[in-house]
Amino acid sequence: MAKAGAAGPHRVGAVLFDAYGTLFDLASAVAQNRAALTPALPAGVTPEAVLATWRAKQLEYTWTLSLSGIWRDFQAVTAEALDFALAAHGIDARTAPRAALLAAFRRLDPYPDAPGCLAALRARGLRTAILSNGSAGMLADAVSASGLEDGLDALFSVDAVQIYKPSPRVYALAASALDLAPEAVGFVSANAWDAAGAAEFGFATVWLNRAGAPDEYGLAVRATVLGDLAAAAAAFAPAA
Ligand code: LAC
Repeated sequence: MAKAGAAGPHRVGAVLFDAYGTLFDLASAVAQNRAALTPALPAGVTPEAVLATWRAKQLEYTWTLSLSGIWRDFQAVTAEALDFALAAHGIDARTAPRAALLAAFRRLDPYPDAPGCLAALRARGLRTAILSNGSAGMLADAVSASGLEDGLDALFSVDAVQIYKPSPRVYALAASALDLAPEAVGFVSANAWDAAGAAEFGFATVWLNRAGAPDEYGLAVRATVLGDLAAAAAAFAPAA
């Protein structure tokens, strides 16, 4: 796949965004509940450690379900992963703000560079959308709570195909809904495994590597690797 940069921006008809970790800051799920969560934590356990286990299990469950041919939506997966994370860190489920943490996942803070990125792409005449593992209801809630609603033309949830990323069926669902060939679709994800799936499908892919993580899945070659969403916005231009 051609990379943006020396060769200029990717010429596309629309740009898709992963949701969690890309437009929405997962850390805000615990940050919004720090005061209620902290007293429930055993000595030496940080909110960040709980979040890391929660997220790792959430993703692991999506892959296990998909490989097993089983469907459970992302709200159920997110709740099961939180229950594991609380138990794994020795947190008493009766004192933990479980419901508040799950509610916070539906109204995560957007990254500060998200609104400007979406606005810049739309000002250039590009359509913008989310393509996420999130259930349709979770995505609608997050987009409306974050104020990103005005910057997005569509929300595509894996609910429509009942399998999780990186199944090619997920990327195909969006390309088909947009009526665009894969190479005419831009895709931005901070999740390397998701960027790899999108690049394999043929999307013009940006791996948003905010933390400067080491290269994986060959993304340095297969995708455009950028550090923030402002740079990602500059990586796409409308097809001539
Ligand atoms: C999503 C997860 C993978 O939004 O972050 O699809």
